[in-house]
Amino acid sequence: MSTPISRPAILVLGGTGKVGSRIVRQLSSYDTNHLVLVASRNANNASSSSQSQQQSEDADKVRHVHFDWDNTDTWSNPFSALPAGTTLSAVYIIAPGSLNAETLMNTFVDFARERGVRRFVLQSASCIEAGGVLMGKVHAYLRELGQRGQVEWAVLRPTWFQQNFAEQENHLKSIREESKLYSATGDGKIPWVNADDIAAVAVRALTDRDPPNTEYLVLGPELLSYGDIASILSEVLGRRIVHVDLTAAELEERLQRFGMPEDYSHMMSALDISIKNGSENRTNDVVLAVTGSAPKKFKDFAESVKEVWGTGGRA
Ligand SMILES: NC(=O)c1ccc[n+]([C@@H]2O[C@H](COP(=O)([O-])OP(=O)(O)OC[C@H]3O[C@@H](n4cnc5c(N)ncnc54)[C@H](OP(=O)(O)O)[C@@H]3O)[C@@H](O)[C@H]2O)c1
Repeated sequence: MSTPISRPAILVLGGTGKVGSRIVRQLSSYDTNHLVLVASRNANNASSSSQSQQQSEDADKVRHVHFDWDNTDTWSNPFSALPAGTTLSAVYIIAPGSLNAETLMNTFVDFARERGVRRFVLQSASCIEAGGVLMGKVHAYLRELGQRGQVEWAVLRPTWFQQNFAEQENHLKSIREESKLYSATGDGKIPWVNADDIAAVAVRALTDRDPPNTEYLVLGPELLSYGDIASILSEVLGRRIVHVDLTAAELEERLQRFGMPEDYSHMMSALDISIKNGSENRTNDVVLAVTGSAPKKFKDFAESVKEVWGTGGRA
């Protein structure tokens, strides 16, 4: 008698965020047999607040689960949400928005491995090398486990997202209400990447039969400074958008006003200063090579979402 084949499930931590939500959408619209588990601290709210997305989801393909990195009692929820005959085969890991979470994340990797998860795909960042701060420690741990043949793994290291301007409150509000963009990046350039493209790379890493066992530096197609972004937005919106170049201290103070903890705001301002000094000044062909599609340009993205920026206050 042959053993019945188990249906694979994929858990997307941070499944309501900029990249996670797009991974869920892409996975659930694919013609695959996967069940997608969408993890969030507000699983119930997520069900009602993302109704239009939910309507397009096939209920048999997507389930929402309550998961909070800071409450280990919730870590088993994805496993208990699995219907009979389903196995959690892969997890997409997005860190909580706090510093010092790496030990917690590695502990969850072990927790999931003990329950049979084989593949882990981590979302890190272009500015973090394996072994570096935060997700860098998780990156190094996955690579080490992979070298011992104990997991299949991939680490995505995306640069800054185009969607930050439309979905992140600090930028969204300042464009909409003041026609201004604030950073401490000076004339430093960034290869802004679209979250749809990051999600497409992630979907391949989660579902390809052969495990990637590698890292991907996920970059967009053009190098643009915040000043360049402001010029493109001005053209798209038909009103003048201005980049205000702040000092590191001014940026930290501003981010804290948006509720960011002091230590995190300090790290974010240090990242802006490194961009000013050229740290993000490169592009590559990873999106095209992995997905077969060219990465999206910022102007096309801006055109597609321009309503979110309203008619705004004039600068
Ligand atoms: N934005 C960028 O430009 C950029 C660039 C490179 C790398 N990254 C990295 O990507 C990651 C996500 O950033 P993002 O901008 O995409 O954030 P985001 O859109 O705000 O998504 C964050 C996700 O994490 C979940 N989350 C936060 N705290 C949690 C907790 N304690 N327990 C469980 N879930 C939690 C949130 O879900 P709920 O609130 O629903 O629980 C949300 O789905 C970060 O590690 C960031 O460093 C970001």
